[in-house]
Amino acid sequence: MNDHNFTLCERIIPSAYVDQALQARRSRENQIKVLLEHRKWPEEGWDEATIEMLLQELSMMDSNNFPGNCGIGEREARFASSLVARRHFRLGHGIGRSGDITAIQPKAAGSSLIMKITNSMVLDLLKVTGIPSVAACFVVPMATGMSLVLCFLTLRLQRPGAKYILWPRIDQKSCFKSMITAGFEPVVIENILEGDELRTDMAALEAKVEELGAENILCVMSTTSCFAPRAPDRLVDIAKCCAKNDIPHVLNNAYGIQSSSITHQIQQAHKHGRLDVFVQSTDKNLLVPVGGTVIAGFKPKFIDEIGKTYPGRASGTPSLDVFITLLSLGVKGYKNLLKERKETYKYLSEELSKCAQLHGERLLSIPHNPISVGMSLTPPNGLENNKSVTQFGSMLFTRCISGTRVVPPGESKTVSGYTFTGFGSHMNRYPCAYLTAAASIGITKADVDLFVKRLDKVLVKWKEQFKGKVLGMAASPLQDDDKSDKIKKENGASGNENGATET
Ligand SMILES: Cc1ncc(COP(=O)(O)O)c(C=O)c1O
Repeated sequence: MNDHNFTLCERIIPSAYVDQALQARRSRENQIKVLLEHRKWPEEGWDEATIEMLLQELSMMDSNNFPGNCGIGEREARFASSLVARRHFRLGHGIGRSGDITAIQPKAAGSSLIMKITNSMVLDLLKVTGIPSVAACFVVPMATGMSLVLCFLTLRLQRPGAKYILWPRIDQKSCFKSMITAGFEPVVIENILEGDELRTDMAALEAKVEELGAENILCVMSTTSCFAPRAPDRLVDIAKCCAKNDIPHVLNNAYGIQSSSITHQIQQAHKHGRLDVFVQSTDKNLLVPVGGTVIAGFKPKFIDEIGKTYPGRASGTPSLDVFITLLSLGVKGYKNLLKERKETYKYLSEELSKCAQLHGERLLSIPHNPISVGMSLTPPNGLENNKSVTQFGSMLFTRCISGTRVVPPGESKTVSGYTFTGFGSHMNRYPCAYLTAAASIGITKADVDLFVKRLDKVLVKWKEQFKGKVLGMAASPLQDDDKSDKIKKENGASGNENGATET
């Protein structure tokens, strides 16, 4: 309601009450004014009523919500289901135009504002989390793998003759497939084992550049956030190598925004070498549903070009989810989550280490990975018995533990025609079988406690069954364990091939 309408209210109810309501309204409007004026991520999180008020206002700015609108085009943001309309705040036009995902749409002023303000707040997010030099970014409604494809295809316009992508190995299928889908030939750079930890082999990378010729290489794709026992790539060294040889550098930073040590590396890579673009998923860093990515870089022109490579219009849902989330958390709320994650990472390492020791195992020493931890697994019937390792994974999965990876050594897997030995462990033959767990944003100490408690029980069962005891009789009768055994029997569940959930 505008001021005039408030004055009209005073003719109906006492003006003191109207005045009070007007003050409350003004304080919400002031928050909105500051946002529109500065397009900055607010320090304090907003309450839901204010966010809803803004969304209603913005939604009313889209042509499909104009009173008396007569849409006669083929795309008029119509809804058959009012549930769908409400789920999207009646925003149905999406974002971008056919030639550019960041372009303004004449029919959709409100949706365009949400897209622009979201991108502006995400830029603040990247700065606040440790990359002050970042200059441009946008949210794209595709997950990480497809967003990497978009980056490669943009680079192809600059380097039409190049056919190789140099890729320090990370055993995650979608990033490997992104290179194949974009039509390039991945050149796998095997990692080197330093203690328990896998790190980038810079000498091998440099030798490959020499062998293939810089002009034939589209880019180097490095990775920061990854599962143990791999560490984030040596980002600064790769950036220096790329600068020296004039080769573009694309970084898969899937869930790296949540780690200050990773964002610091990104900033340093830019400062000391070449980093063209870094890509991170919205769900893994911002606690929204899967479906969006932030594509960011230090040169606005190149990031714009990526936006222009996207063909057609795009879903506005990931931008809307990020818009709402950033407003509701505020800088302070997000920083609290980061702090909690960091503390929980330490707690997870400590608790997992204690549990490992109790069962004759050990926490792997992976000092450079700030998110994922690993614990050795020694099958009681011999290291060669990968089946029992896989079975261990299934036991965890059926006890509702999701997100762990149980990796037996030396197993082969073919991905898009390429065969990887030791798939899952980022090298051909890691010295032991192991289990990974991640302390990612949103995790709590209670999650760790429950995980370690169930892990402990599963370890007892797993090891005892090889002593000739009947599975299920060895462990203490934990209620939730028994229940999940029952669920397993009823559903015939067995987990995936590693017996654990995959991301
Ligand atoms: C390092 C890494 N890269 C890429 C991906 C795939 O991301 P998306 O499913 O968003 O394509 C993942 C998923 O876990 C990942 O861990």
